[in-house]
Amino acid sequence: MSLLRSAVAAIGLLLVAVQPVAADEILIRFAHVVGERTPKGEGATLFKTLVEQRLAGRVRVEVYPRSIKFNDNQVLLALLLGDAEMAAPSLAKFRTYTKKLQIFDLPFLFKDMEALHRFQASPPGRALLDSMEERGIKGLAYWDNGPRVISANQPLRRPEDARGLTFRIEPSSVFHAQWSRIGVNTFPMAFKQVYDAVREGLVKGQENAWSNIYSRKLHTVHRYFTEVGHTYLGYMVVTSSNFWNSLPPDIRTELENILAEVTAEVRRLAQEKAIANRREIAESGQVTVMTLNEAERDVWRQALMPVWKEFEAEIGKDLIDAAVASNQ
Ligand code: LMR
Repeated sequence: MSLLRSAVAAIGLLLVAVQPVAADEILIRFAHVVGERTPKGEGATLFKTLVEQRLAGRVRVEVYPRSIKFNDNQVLLALLLGDAEMAAPSLAKFRTYTKKLQIFDLPFLFKDMEALHRFQASPPGRALLDSMEERGIKGLAYWDNGPRVISANQPLRRPEDARGLTFRIEPSSVFHAQWSRIGVNTFPMAFKQVYDAVREGLVKGQENAWSNIYSRKLHTVHRYFTEVGHTYLGYMVVTSSNFWNSLPPDIRTELENILAEVTAEVRRLAQEKAIANRREIAESGQVTVMTLNEAERDVWRQALMPVWKEFEAEIGKDLIDAAVASNQ
């Protein structure tokens, strides 16, 4: 190929690869850390599809899954610096921006997903979406994943079975304190590193939702899974207050409507995947899934729940009471 022809071909490739944003087109870069086939991954893709249908030519969305752009620590800073416009970190990842959201990390707080949803929809739950406004972060919606399950290469039926093990945790002070109560060492690390850390034995235990365990193949490196029922993994979809306030009001309203629609779909997908991914893991023949009876769960409750007291001042007793009331 002549030099000229290769140069023309290269320019052609460049034109295909880079789709410039039209001068007045708004770009939303949505970065997250999980796979595309998880509830959050599918939610982000659906958000892009609906925005580009309904706000064609006015807003374009680029989705960056699997930490290819930022991990959850980095992404909040990226929102503030204008390097990304949307993210949906787990509720356990906001502690440097507000202590209030630690409420979602308290063990055995919500009796089921319906109670969690009731609290999120209540005035104190909605107010939490604005709890980081003075730090420049705005909450737009709550998205679901599902109950966290714990795993190791030995059966963890009772709290003492885990004593002395090191668990990978999300960077939550509540999780650290809760596991410390039963003699578990904790190692906070980014989601992207978990598979290798488990495979190489750097951590002996971990906790996550079924869809994350399945999509990251954690069931190929851990043999025993226990459904303790202690917490739910959920997300807050966030943006920066600066970006949000800079949007024309009609676009903001349309984005809010789309988010409400996507949130409903993420809830449905979360429920569906929690069941389907659990079944696929249980039927893989590689692992044992242990479900506890009420008496066994009660032992975990007694061991972990005293951690509430440690965080009552930071979270606020009124807020904890409101969350407890959503169980009625
Ligand atoms: C984790 O770090 O384990 C999760 O928060 C990842 C996620 O976004 O579901």
